[in-house]
Amino acid sequence: MLESNSSPSSRAPAPHLLPAGQAMTSGDFPRAKKQQRKLSMVTCYDYTFARLLSRSAIDGILVGDSAAMVVHGYSSTLHATVEMMRTHTQAVARGAGGKFVIADMPFLSFRKGVAAALESAQALMTAGAQAVKVEGVGGHEDVIERLVESGIPVMGHLGLQPQSLHAYGGFRVQGRTPDSARRIAGHARALEDLGVFAIVLECVPAPLAAEITGSLRIPTIGIGAGAGCDGQILVLQDLLGLNIDFTPKFARPFLDGVSGVLDALDRFDGEVKSGSFPAREESYA
Ligand code: KIV
Repeated sequence: MLESNSSPSSRAPAPHLLPAGQAMTSGDFPRAKKQQRKLSMVTCYDYTFARLLSRSAIDGILVGDSAAMVVHGYSSTLHATVEMMRTHTQAVARGAGGKFVIADMPFLSFRKGVAAALESAQALMTAGAQAVKVEGVGGHEDVIERLVESGIPVMGHLGLQPQSLHAYGGFRVQGRTPDSARRIAGHARALEDLGVFAIVLECVPAPLAAEITGSLRIPTIGIGAGAGCDGQILVLQDLLGLNIDFTPKFARPFLDGVSGVLDALDRFDGEVKSGSFPAREESYA
C-alpha cells in the first residue's frame, strides 16, 4: 500500500446546529425557521469538496444544475441533463458523510408530464439525494404535488430562475415591478401550499425577499436576495474565490482561491524546474 502524506488540513468537524452525529432532514428546515436559526447552504458537484463539506458546519448541500456552467463550462444551465445531475449527485453523496443533499431537477425534466418527472426524480433520489429542487411553479403544480405525495421532499426556486434565462433576455434581477413582485410572492405561497420544505429566492430586491420570508412558515434561502431571508446559499466556487472571470456582486469570496491556487501551481512549477521537488523523503528507497 502507498504511504500517505499527512494532511495539513485534518481538523475536527465544526459545530453544527443539530446535536453531534444527527443529520439534517427536510423537516429541520421549517423547524430552524421557527427557532429563528439561519441556514447555510452551498452548491457542490464532486466528491473531494463533499468530503470537505462533511467536516464543516454548513447545513445543506445543493447539487445545482449550475454544474453545467461551473464544472462543464457551458454558458447556461440549460445544458444540464438528468444523467449529468445523477453523476454529480452520486459523487457528492459518496463524500457528504450524512449532510443533507438536494439535487436540482434539470431543464424541462419536470415539464414533460408527471410520469417523466417522477422518473427524473427517481434517478436523482437513487443517486443519493434526499430532496430535489424544482424551478418555478406555474404549469407544473401537479408535478410538485405528486413528488411531495410520493415522499420526495421538494425545494422551490423563485425569482431569477436560470432555466428561464432566454425568457428574461439575460440573467436579470426579478421582482422589480409591482406586477412581477406580486407574482413571485403569489408563487411562494402556492409552493408552501403544495408542501415544499424551503424556497430558494434568487436575485430579487431585498425588501421583496424579506416580505416573502415574513409571509411564509417555510424558510427562504437567498442568493442575491439580501439579509432578510432565513438562510443563504452560494455557489461553492464563488465562496472560495475561485473565479477568474465574472463574479456577481452578491457572491462574496470568503477565500482568495485564485491567488492560492495559482501560487501553489507556480511554486510546483518552480520546484520541479529547480529540481527541489521531489525531495529524498518524498521518494521511495
Ligand atoms: O444551480 C444552482 O447553483 C442553484 C443555486 C444558484 C441556488 O440553483
